[in-house]
Amino acid sequence: MPDHVKSMVSIEAEMEKDLKGEDPEVRRYMIEEKSSAKAIGWSSIRFHTWARRYHNADLGLCIGEKDKWGKGYGTEVTKLLLVEAFEQLNLHKVGWWTFAENKASIALAKKLGFKEEGRLQEQIFFNNQFHDSVVLGLLKSQYDKRPRS
Ligand SMILES: CC(C)(COP(=O)(O)OP(=O)(O)OC[C@H]1O[C@@H](n2cnc3c(N)ncnc32)[C@H](O)[C@@H]1OP(=O)(O)O)[C@@H](O)C(=O)NCCC(=O)NCCS
Repeated sequence: MPDHVKSMVSIEAEMEKDLKGEDPEVRRYMIEEKSSAKAIGWSSIRFHTWARRYHNADLGLCIGEKDKWGKGYGTEVTKLLLVEAFEQLNLHKVGWWTFAENKASIALAKKLGFKEEGRLQEQIFFNNQFHDSVVLGLLKSQYDKRPRS
């Protein structure tokens, strides 16, 4: 296994802990496909914790089964995360990070109102090379003005 890759065992241990709610800095959710009742991925709200009161968080989302991509699940889950972040937790802002070549992730975030805020050069390493990161953000005030469908 390459040195920079986490083992399945360590990821499972991390998930177990997060799903039990033991870490106050992150809320992690399993994504279950309704029709098959199968777990197909996870999502998260990770708070920025440099102040005592949490105002900001980064959203995380991964649909692990590639044959489940492009079916609208990413959109559905992200909308639920935004309801949780802004309507339940009353956060001021949420962030969305991905690598620059991840067209689907960037399109999904922009579709839901996120604005691109910056690009960090050669920030992440995988597939034997460094990749730029793109960071997007959405304010609660912008979310409140979103078009309703
Ligand atoms: C990014 C990801 C969450 C998208 O999930 P998904 O269920 O495929 O997304 P949806 O079907 O809801 O599509 C959302 C939007 O993404 C865009 N999109 C989807 N597939 C795309 C592709 N292959 N190329 C470009 N844009 C694409 C479209 O704009 C689409 O909206 P539309 O169908 O209304 O036009 C999924 O591909 C994934 O889990 N990837 C691996 C992990 C990851 O990249 N996570 C995001 C980083 S935070």
